[in-house]
Amino acid sequence: MTKDLTLLGIESSCDDTAAAVVRGTEILSSIVYGQTALHADFGGVVPEIAARAHAEKLDHSVEAALREANLSFAALDGVAVTAGPGLIGGVLSGVMCAKGICAATGLPLIGVNHLAGHALTPRLTDQIAYPYLMLLVSGGHCQFLLVNEHDSYTRLGGTIDDAPGEAFDKTARILGLPQPGGPAVEAAAKAGDPNRFVLPRPLLNQPGCDLSFSGLKTAILRARDGIVAENGGLTIEDQADLCAGFQAAVTDVLCEKTRRALDIYLAQSPARPSFAIAGGVAANGPIRDAMLQLCAASGTAFIAPPLHLCTDNAAMIAYAGIEKIMHGRVDDLTLAARPRWPLDDQAAPMLGFGKKGAKA
Ligand code: KG4
Ligand code: ZN
Repeated sequence: MTKDLTLLGIESSCDDTAAAVVRGTEILSSIVYGQTALHADFGGVVPEIAARAHAEKLDHSVEAALREANLSFAALDGVAVTAGPGLIGGVLSGVMCAKGICAATGLPLIGVNHLAGHALTPRLTDQIAYPYLMLLVSGGHCQFLLVNEHDSYTRLGGTIDDAPGEAFDKTARILGLPQPGGPAVEAAAKAGDPNRFVLPRPLLNQPGCDLSFSGLKTAILRARDGIVAENGGLTIEDQADLCAGFQAAVTDVLCEKTRRALDIYLAQSPARPSFAIAGGVAANGPIRDAMLQLCAASGTAFIAPPLHLCTDNAAMIAYAGIEKIMHGRVDDLTLAARPRWPLDDQAAPMLGFGKKGAKA
């Protein structure tokens, strides 16, 4: 039996400064310093503010991750760092930090694709076999991926405009609910009637697995304006009905596209069919339940990693680095930071950007 490799992971591609130590599939430590408060006044992540905050916090996060794991650099087998895609200033900060450590210690450097980190998380948490189907749904990501191998992905579809989490957040803003919008909309929807407002199901009438959410958000805005023009404001009931209608529309769209993606995946007759979901929107109860039912109906295992591993973290980067180093894939000090880095370079470029900046 080979010894489990121990890697330090570093993540700074968006608005979380994170470091973690992972041995095999065991997370020895995982530190995440968020920047939400720094960007709160701006309605989105400000790249320059994010990069400066990463540069200030990276050393501390690495120190904290090693301390919590009770290890020194000497106990590591390598340093994995997010080398893209993401906001370039943040990615550069992380890559420079990792290069500095590797130059000083002689440890191997492994550049990891941030999306691969998300996509491989179900192997870290549940050790599922390749190939599996994955849906990334957060405030910045929305794509269906066939995960064929640690370095082989097929993108079956993705959003052509907003990410679903972004649509939840905008809906909350339109209706005067707090941020982050997802949990607020889900809570309000519990008391609502999903059928009172007729809301669109964008792209359902077109073939394929691409998704769109911006039209739905506009429909919510129009419906709100209609009620305000008629009654002078929104009642709690109006809010609840709009939230329920919005959530039902998102669920319908995600489920239909998942059904299509599952058909493509299952046509390959995988030995142990598995569908994994990740990203903040995976926390949504009705969406999770609907996906679970879909999977049960097709004999597919449904995997939803714990939320702290679905959102941005460095344990997923360390783990993706372990899979790379096990296949002899190591970088050197010429490793470049890449703002765009599609997992599937055969797929057409995605048009959507997401509120958290350009994603491949
Ligand atoms: O993965 P995440 O923490 O960060 C990135 O976007 O990268 O996802 C955050 C997003 C937010 O847009 C938030 O509103 C959404 O996930 N979210 C939810 C729920 N909890 C968080 N959306 C729907 N229902 C929820 N319960
Ligand atoms: Zn992410």
